[in-house]
Amino acid sequence: MPYIIGLHSAASAFLSAGFATQFTVAVVICLVIVLATSSLQGDGEQAPKSLPGLHFFSIFPFFRQRHDFLKWGFDITGESIFQFQLMSNTVIVVSGASARQAFFYAKGFDLTEGFKILSGAIPMVRGVTSGLQTKRISTIHKRLAAVQKNASLSQLIPVILEDSRRILASYEASGTFDPFDKIYELIFQTTVRSLSSSEISDDAALVARLKTLYDRLDTGTTPATVLIPWFPTPAMIKKLWATKEIYDIIVRAINAREQSGISRNDTLQMLVESGDERLTIVGFIMGLLIAGARATGTTASWVITFLGGHADWRAKAKSEVEALLTAHSDPTAASLSCRLAEIPLEIWESQTPVLDAIIRETLRIAQPHTAMRRNLGPDVYINEKLIPSGSYVVYPFSDVHLDPEIYPDPWRFDPSREASKVDLAYVGWGVGKTTCLGTRLAKVELKLTTALFILGFDHEIVDKTGAAPEALPRPNWNDILLCRPPPGSCYVKYKRTDLAL
Ligand code: HEM
Ligand SMILES: *[C@@H]1O[C@H](CO)[C@@H](O)[C@H](O)[C@H]1NC(C)=O
Ligand SMILES: *[C@@H]1O[C@H](CO)[C@@H](O)[C@H](O)[C@H]1NC(C)=O
Repeated sequence: MPYIIGLHSAASAFLSAGFATQFTVAVVICLVIVLATSSLQGDGEQAPKSLPGLHFFSIFPFFRQRHDFLKWGFDITGESIFQFQLMSNTVIVVSGASARQAFFYAKGFDLTEGFKILSGAIPMVRGVTSGLQTKRISTIHKRLAAVQKNASLSQLIPVILEDSRRILASYEASGTFDPFDKIYELIFQTTVRSLSSSEISDDAALVARLKTLYDRLDTGTTPATVLIPWFPTPAMIKKLWATKEIYDIIVRAINAREQSGISRNDTLQMLVESGDERLTIVGFIMGLLIAGARATGTTASWVITFLGGHADWRAKAKSEVEALLTAHSDPTAASLSCRLAEIPLEIWESQTPVLDAIIRETLRIAQPHTAMRRNLGPDVYINEKLIPSGSYVVYPFSDVHLDPEIYPDPWRFDPSREASKVDLAYVGWGVGKTTCLGTRLAKVELKLTTALFILGFDHEIVDKTGAAPEALPRPNWNDILLCRPPPGSCYVKYKRTDLAL
């Protein structure tokens, strides 16, 4: 997911500016901002309708209760497009089929610029590195493609499974856990493995530390850190230090690799050998780690939750994997993870219709993404409403994925739904100019971890009293990170099967 963009820029800005400069710039710019904020704009005839009320108050719900806030905006304006102010920025929210098409294909709409202001993942200084940035991002994308070439992705299969085995084997033989902690933790490990070095991934304490630091970046996002990211609030300073510590961990790994002269079969080796600047390597690992781990972790947590609440789909997925094991693995192999590792990549990618349908349906209901762009120009019109050059445009995925016209009874988990004939009815991996560049890796991670879990364990969902809940909890779209249901509403109750992990 594109938190990545913020992180790239942040890492770059942080590294090139240095602390002292940042603080000076922060204070100066903050003063300017305070003086310049209230640029109240009157609505022209073609401008989208504005939200009523003081624009300053849009900021909090946009970051804290985004789903409800956007829904409220559509309701109160009675329009399919409306606008509001975030400080001096105009943000236009669009919905509906033709707007969706326009949004994803408009030439001047830029994802990187959109995320800079609207994501708030990280503190940064505008403009410090903007020239370099485009080139660096495209190098990072190229390296990400290299990680997912058949040969490298195939090599990741046994190590992802071994990491998963190690973590799952540390669980008691039976018990309960919160999937939004434990499954996310598992995916964090496999993502660190896939995107960084074997030294980092082999060090459980270091991986745990990284996870803490990344959590700090996410939960440290306050309206202030988004809108006046230069201003040294305590939250911003905490984020800056977390960024620096992550940076140090990665640089240490690069140095150790270069100095040891020992070549390893991992992603760091590929990056070091590609001869990229150090900043690009750091940007790759820092940015993609959070992009990958968050989105994949959310999805994996919900896959396990949905399968725990839908025994029929659990059974179907399990027989699908069992059939693959029979066809492609040696039944006398020592363990389940070793047998799964024998199934070739091409089979995981092309012969798992049930897992594919489950992942697709999970993304539809439990991926609370709001796509963000900045219109770099020229002015465009969407449904006859003006989207001026320089404004920000957002498109909430709920508009299409939770639309009862397209997906009847939209909250119902039903992987057997037929693909809708409506244009761009599914945007789970992005469409148009921007599609997810980590899809292959994400899908393989999801399939391997899910396969090992559902064969190695039996599981169901319980509430905090230990009883099966009347209904599964609904994904909470206001939680833009994990779509996590209310704390305490949902646990996995599990028991080991007799297959050795
Ligand atoms: C289940 C997991 C994932 C989901 C559902 C997902 C979904 C998405 C979506 C919907 C977009 C487009 C966003 C937009 O249009 O605003 C996107 C972009 C992106 N994703 Fe993913 N993603 C996942 C995992 C990953 C992983 C594992 C990586 C990298 C290792 C990754 C890297 C990226 C990048 C680099 C972009 C930006 C592409 C660009 O700038 O053109 N994603 N992702
Ligand atoms: C490293 O990867 C190559 C394939 O890219 C593989 O042939 C080789 O066996 C691997 N080496 C080790 C030590 O795993
Ligand atoms: C890579 O794997 C995919 C399916 O997993 C297959 O369709 C494709 O032909 C493979 N490419 C090469 C170059 O082997």
